[in-house]
Amino acid sequence: MAYNNYFSEIADGKSPATYNYFDGEKWTVSLSGKTIDVVSPIDGKVMGKIQEVSHSEIDQAIDRAKEAQLSWKSIPMIKRAKILHLAADWIRQHEHYLTTTLIREIGKPFSEAKDEILRSADMIDYFANEGLHVTGEELSGEVFPGYDQTKMAIVERVPLGTVLAIAPFNYPVNLAVSKIAPALIMGNAVVFKPPSQGGISGLHLAQIFYQAGLPKGLIVIVTGRGEDTGNYLCVHQGIDMVTFTGSSQVGKSIAEEIGMIPILFECGGNNPAIVLPDADLQFTATEIVKGAFSFAGQRCTAIKYVLGMSSTIDELLPLVVVKTKEIMKMGDPREEKFNMGPVISDSSAQTIEKRILKAKADGAKVVVGGKRDGRYIEPTILDMVKSSMEIIQTETFGPVVSFIRINSVDEAVKIIRESNYGLQASVFTSDEGAGIKLAQIVDVGTVQINSKPQRGPDHFPFLGIKGSGSGVQGIRYTLEAMSRLKPIVLNKPQ
Ligand code: G3H
Repeated sequence: MAYNNYFSEIADGKSPATYNYFDGEKWTVSLSGKTIDVVSPIDGKVMGKIQEVSHSEIDQAIDRAKEAQLSWKSIPMIKRAKILHLAADWIRQHEHYLTTTLIREIGKPFSEAKDEILRSADMIDYFANEGLHVTGEELSGEVFPGYDQTKMAIVERVPLGTVLAIAPFNYPVNLAVSKIAPALIMGNAVVFKPPSQGGISGLHLAQIFYQAGLPKGLIVIVTGRGEDTGNYLCVHQGIDMVTFTGSSQVGKSIAEEIGMIPILFECGGNNPAIVLPDADLQFTATEIVKGAFSFAGQRCTAIKYVLGMSSTIDELLPLVVVKTKEIMKMGDPREEKFNMGPVISDSSAQTIEKRILKAKADGAKVVVGGKRDGRYIEPTILDMVKSSMEIIQTETFGPVVSFIRINSVDEAVKIIRESNYGLQASVFTSDEGAGIKLAQIVDVGTVQINSKPQRGPDHFPFLGIKGSGSGVQGIRYTLEAMSRLKPIVLNKPQ
């Protein structure tokens, strides 16, 4: 099929917005007869529907994926890589269409949505290239004396089988690609569960892999509600690995259910920034604003609280206020002049508002923002926050940043250590040596010195400890996680 037909299919109404692409064969409706409305957070209008796939269809889908994987794993990796590179090219060619769909579906501002699409294409290319170097090895047994045979291990690297990839609403394309591409290049099949909000973008993405020549059945797309479809998938006997991005709460409940299969989880962040007295405060203020408010704070790597001595915060806070007003422009994210749109849903907006009000009632001071108009929440800065408050104890997936006044750096380290989260932390200082020393004792996955937290560059290791995740992502690390070693030992009498 010529690739242009992809868009004419959508124009004909056979669009992912209504149908499921299932195994890449044809657009289908679910036997369940149920669909889920995808409501744009921008204006509350239904922009499409996704199918609520039934359990019996999930069973069929997983069988289909398992069957497809048997031949896929034997295809030379360079051929698999070619398909992935083609998918990356098609994403680039259709970047505008994918960007505008993403903006409408999740309310992501234009430049961030465009970045997500282009970063996804680059990520696929990188996975495809790096996959060629993630191979097995040969080991000699001679170094260990005491065996009556000469041993040599041929350590093969083999796929895991069928990987369940559960993507979140905040990066429905990029955090789907970060799971699908490595799984495929390493020879696995993928059962892809897109988020409901973000499901349309997810279906487009899966279709692109098929348009690039992926053999049918290697990505089976299962749309539905997390609490039903997601739960059923996670405990399915046909799944050999689960890779998930989402809240810590959901991550923990999945981990408790699934038993002894490998997992790769990226969960909530609730990331702190420690500002030392010698930091460049103008620069720090800009990083805090961007770190806290990009995509309305709906990033696991967002800065959620700032820890500094009272005198530092007295100087820093007015700068953060000025920069928030200068940098953050809230409005319809389809217009390029706005860089902050709505949060994902009414219920999310209500939760964020409640958390702000609770913090206020507990003694926090609202320095800027705090108001909500439907799903649009002003960038909000809270001062006089205590580490015991709910706003610090629980990640608030919205545009809120809290300032905690500490008496010593040790106190900051203790607050972070006692947190249930441990994704990233930032340290702002003009003394890199002091920054490194502090980084070595801060209890999180990654410490950023003089930058807001962030996942990229995508080949860096990315991991959370405590409630923030399990396993290590990053191009090479994900490829290793999505394959396993299989030693075949040759024995010869001495
Ligand atoms: O929300 C979680 C994402 O992995 C954050 O990625 O740091 O590139 O925004 P990012």
